[in-house]
Amino acid sequence: MLTLHREGLAVFYASPVEGVPSSSMLVFYNPDAALNRDLTVAFLAAAGREGMEVLDALAGSGVRGIRIGLESGLEPELHFSEVRKTSCSVIEENLAINGLEGTVHCRRCQAVMAEMNFDYVDLDPFGDAVPYLDSALMSVRHNGLLGVTTTDLSVLSGKHPRTARRRYLASVGRGHCPHELGLRVFLGYVVRMAARLDIAVRPLLAVHHMHYYRAFFRVRKRRSEADSVLRFLGYVGDYGPLWKPPLQDPEVISSVRVMPWFPRGRELGRLLEALRRENFEGRCFEVRRLASELGTSPPPISKLLDALRERGFRAERSPFGPDAFRTDAPEEEVLGAFREVAGGGL
Ligand SMILES: C[S@@+](CC[C@H](N)C(=O)[O-])C[C@H]1O[C@@H](n2cnc3c(N)ncnc32)[C@H](O)[C@@H]1O
Repeated sequence: MLTLHREGLAVFYASPVEGVPSSSMLVFYNPDAALNRDLTVAFLAAAGREGMEVLDALAGSGVRGIRIGLESGLEPELHFSEVRKTSCSVIEENLAINGLEGTVHCRRCQAVMAEMNFDYVDLDPFGDAVPYLDSALMSVRHNGLLGVTTTDLSVLSGKHPRTARRRYLASVGRGHCPHELGLRVFLGYVVRMAARLDIAVRPLLAVHHMHYYRAFFRVRKRRSEADSVLRFLGYVGDYGPLWKPPLQDPEVISSVRVMPWFPRGRELGRLLEALRRENFEGRCFEVRRLASELGTSPPPISKLLDALRERGFRAERSPFGPDAFRTDAPEEEVLGAFREVAGGGL
């Protein structure tokens, strides 16, 4: 049995949501990922172009592609790929009830991507995106865009180093702001996998929200650019190779707009604002973790940020943890400022 749902400007059929959404749903739909879809629409409205060809590669009910069609203002040509037959016919019906046209490819997205090229490919898998990445990178046209979700957070953020080494050819471990580092490992992985194919990808927007990371990339099919982009990879503590520069492209993050009908608009607006504020070269630290490393109790974060600013450094709260902040201060200065605000008794 299916239910009629609403999200953004779309109405669509999908399985009813009772408890935690799972891959056993007949037609998958997870309302908790509404912010991910809001962000996708907002990103494409800012970075996409009129009439672009879009593939919603792991489509489920098709809600993501349908929202792109209704809300981005780009009048895109829509394609969907999906392996479940029921989902395929539901996507056809969902297109019709939203007054949209689109092509539903009822087969594996890897086959569709091997045969066709698109200006934007969206990968939104159960779990990790690794099995789909190569075909997506080859399918996106020069200067096109790629959007990828991964829910493989425990591996990327450091809980399973052996799996991370095998799956992402990267080392992970223990560090401050593990999801900031995990997201950077993920970006670094996509950059490296693209470079093998002589493709340059540049991260434009990257977030951690609830159970997933989501990142968007510009794809350029130029060998020399693939060489240059590899220079931005490096290590932070136990983690790497990872993407070292600021996570957000300044032009993209400042032009992404929250639309009035977004179901998670307010939350998305707050997240984007926080990401904009902390989008500078520097490292992410956590107050409680610093306190436990120094064997003291944590001071108020605002005092620590003021102390770092008084020393001439940039310091801003970070959305990568409730007590996380980013600063361009070297670690000794962070520890010095910490000791100062913790009362000088350390
Ligand atoms: C996480 S769900 C997608 C959710 C959807 N993108 C959304 O925003 O609601 C993943 C979907 O991919 C489909 N799928 C799994 N492997 C696939 C493949 N190789 N090609 C196409 N679809 C696939 C599953 O049947 C499932 O519907």
